[in-house]
Amino acid sequence: MKTFHETITDPEVVRVRGLSKTYGNRVAVDGLDLDVSAGEVLGLIGANGAGKTTTVECIQGLRRPDAGTVRVLGLDPVRDADRVRRLVGSQLQSSALPDRLRVSEAIELFSTRSARDADGLVERFGLEDKLRSSFGSMSGGEQQRVFLVLALLNRPRLVILDELTQGLDPAARREVWSSVAQLRDAGTTVLLVTHELDEAEVLCDRIVAVRSGRVLDAGTPAELVARHAGVATTRFGIRDGDTDGLVRALRSVSGVHDVGLDPGGQVAVRGDRSSIAHVGAWLVSRGAIPADLRVDVPDLEAALLTLLDGREEPAPTASDLTGALR
Ligand SMILES: Nc1ncnc2c1ncn2[C@@H]1O[C@H](COP(=O)(O)OP(=O)(O)OP(=O)(O)O)[C@@H](O)[C@H]1O
Ligand SMILES: [Mg+2]
Repeated sequence: MKTFHETITDPEVVRVRGLSKTYGNRVAVDGLDLDVSAGEVLGLIGANGAGKTTTVECIQGLRRPDAGTVRVLGLDPVRDADRVRRLVGSQLQSSALPDRLRVSEAIELFSTRSARDADGLVERFGLEDKLRSSFGSMSGGEQQRVFLVLALLNRPRLVILDELTQGLDPAARREVWSSVAQLRDAGTTVLLVTHELDEAEVLCDRIVAVRSGRVLDAGTPAELVARHAGVATTRFGIRDGDTDGLVRALRSVSGVHDVGLDPGGQVAVRGDRSSIAHVGAWLVSRGAIPADLRVDVPDLEAALLTLLDGREEPAPTASDLTGALR
């Protein structure tokens, strides 16, 4: 757990401005800005090839940016590589350990702290029985838990997890999710790379969506839902009576955008999320409580799909704006 003093002196654990990285003629990251605040789980989300891994590799000092600045707890990860390495724990997308290495040996190799720290982590991730197992003999989920232990061994100020649950079965995914939730609850700052939308929904306090190495949008799940998830739909059947009148009257209920009849004869009311409560209250006030009332609420998954599927353009970068002014 961070002390109060640490929290106020380092509100920003990661600060990235205008990061660009090109491999040959392939632009991987193109003027990206990113902040990770102390104690939050920030999700970096985007399709394959969006530039996520390149970004976190620059944050860890494993790659040198072509342009832009990267600061981790105020340090430059290229110039202050040793200090940054001591402050950051990471599980990289391409992590691997030699098959014959035992878990206990890996821990010894990576640990710069007391054995008691390691024992606590081994217990927390349920690996007590696996200490003598060789890495190659373990299942994917067990290996991921070993990577988590290694990432946390030296009490890092920042933990970077790049596609932590890739290839895991649903039960193992949930197990790893609960490990990340424990980290969050303990106040550890986490930068989580994923393209699993449900994972982001469960774990992230804030999300940065990227495409083609640029930020499409950033915000809390609630902010992204409000901006990109579209409308809520409330549906219900009506027995008889003045359908046209009902449809007309519902159009003036607060938050409602439009009202129509589904092919099955159900009334479909589309509007802001607030319209759900207003439509419900309106129906109750008229003594009409439909037994088949159903609500489709836009969620984060819907928001991210809209955002990532290509209909929305990335925000212009500083270099675009400079170019436009020339
Ligand atoms: N070492 C490299 N050499 C050449 N091109 C690379 C290299 N690493 C990444 N790239 C390219 O840079 C782009 C961004 O790759 P990156 O690995 O950062 O994406 P990503 O968002 O992590 O994707 P994924 O979800 O598939 O892991 C891709 O087009 C990729 O092909
Ligand atoms: Mg990647």
